[in-house]
Amino acid sequence: MKVIHLAKIDSTQNYSKELLLSGERDFIVYSDIQNSGRGRHGRKWEAPNGGLWFSFDMDYNDYGELFTIAIGVVVREECANNYKCDVKLKWPNDIIVNDKKVGGIICEKVGEKVIVGIGLNTNLEKVNCENSDTFFNITGKRVDNNIIMESIRQKCKEIIYKKNIDVVKKFREHMAFKGKKCFVSALGKEVEILDIGDNGYLVVKENEKKHEIFMGEINLCI
Ligand code: BTN
Repeated sequence: MKVIHLAKIDSTQNYSKELLLSGERDFIVYSDIQNSGRGRHGRKWEAPNGGLWFSFDMDYNDYGELFTIAIGVVVREECANNYKCDVKLKWPNDIIVNDKKVGGIICEKVGEKVIVGIGLNTNLEKVNCENSDTFFNITGKRVDNNIIMESIRQKCKEIIYKKNIDVVKKFREHMAFKGKKCFVSALGKEVEILDIGDNGYLVVKENEKKHEIFMGEINLCI
């Protein structure tokens, strides 16, 4: 495996896509700072010094809709083990502590490969967003970003190649905002969050009627 460490880059996700297109395989790219980090749905991702920002290539391996769920399960578990706090997963795969976002995941398919991009607010002291927080701020603990990164990558490979069917069960055990009212972007309204289905879709309830949601995101209503 090729490990590429950069001091500064626009986005490890963009860099990885270029690597893949130039024929490179089996790599991991991390950067101390990203000038132009990207989140899902075209959003900007703040990535100053201190956080963990990395991308790597994986085979899609026919894991289907559960791919992003599985990666979320791995990242959540790694964070919970390191920080010994209650880490939750907001569908489809945001990392949440105390109802605040502390990490995000983006999975982008490029041919038969996927570039997995993970951002974790590990050793950051603060973030400039009221719905987000940092692990350091919450727990007071500093971690070795490289150890966490390598462990996550290793476990992602294992879980995807084994097609571990426990991922839905594991997601359910740690699902954020269950039973709470949230704004669901795909519906354009507030509904109650119930569960995830066996294929990783979100199940919500509105006036006793259940809906299955396959894309978009949810936001807690205050
Ligand atoms: C999200 O929650 O919207 C996903 C955020 C993903 C951020 C990571 S940081 C490393 C990689 N490079 C990027 O530009 N984005 C991902």
